[in-house]
Amino acid sequence: MTRRPLVAGNWKMNGFVAAVSVLEQIVAGARALSNVELMVCPPATLIAGFAVAARGSGVLIGAQDCHALALGAHTGDISAEMLKDAGAVAVIVGHSERRQYHGETDAAVRAKVLAAGRAGMVAIVCVGETGAERGAGRALEVVELQLEGSLSDDSTGFVIAYEPVWAIGTGRTPTPGDVAEMHRLIRERLVLRYGHGGEETRILYGGSVNPANAGDLLRVENVDGALIGGASLKAAEFLAIAGVYR
Ligand code: PGA
Repeated sequence: MTRRPLVAGNWKMNGFVAAVSVLEQIVAGARALSNVELMVCPPATLIAGFAVAARGSGVLIGAQDCHALALGAHTGDISAEMLKDAGAVAVIVGHSERRQYHGETDAAVRAKVLAAGRAGMVAIVCVGETGAERGAGRALEVVELQLEGSLSDDSTGFVIAYEPVWAIGTGRTPTPGDVAEMHRLIRERLVLRYGHGGEETRILYGGSVNPANAGDLLRVENVDGALIGGASLKAAEFLAIAGVYR
């Protein structure tokens, strides 16, 4: 079983048009990294321009969220079809910041995963426990339920990102042992539900990944790459993390 690692940068609400220079540095650095797929998920305003700038480089462009429907009266929303049309090949769904600040439930996330599939895009489906849930010994149970509820039996072509909420943007990370335990559980559940497809699904780790800890976190069994927030805004740091797969 060979799962090609994926290192994806989630820029969140950061980046103006001039940040294409950061993407250009990533494109240049990517030439030396043939063992790993690189993806940049900028704000929606930058997707079309980034897709042009990255064309032919192998660096993929992704989006950070989508609406569940293809079109209609939904002021301010963007559909998966529109993101695809702009040049994105993937979309992050169910990020904890969407779940927390936009009240997204597992059912809402599940509808977005279906929307991504309908548009021919890869959904990067985020799951992860809060600090309180881990403290109460409920981390595995919480993630298992999120995974169950955020996917449909006929979901295909998705990527999972395990992102402990307490590790996002805090500089704190789980131990490699805790990551191994969680990724093993996710793998087991995926294989039970999707058979061979569950073996092939990539499971990313996300939450305070940086060049110093990437080696330890990304070499854990069943970790097939990373979803990177803060460190993805700097080309050198992003490339150094992906360099774990050199
Ligand atoms: P971080 O964010 O790397 O800044 O912790 C990760 C994420 O939210 O995807």
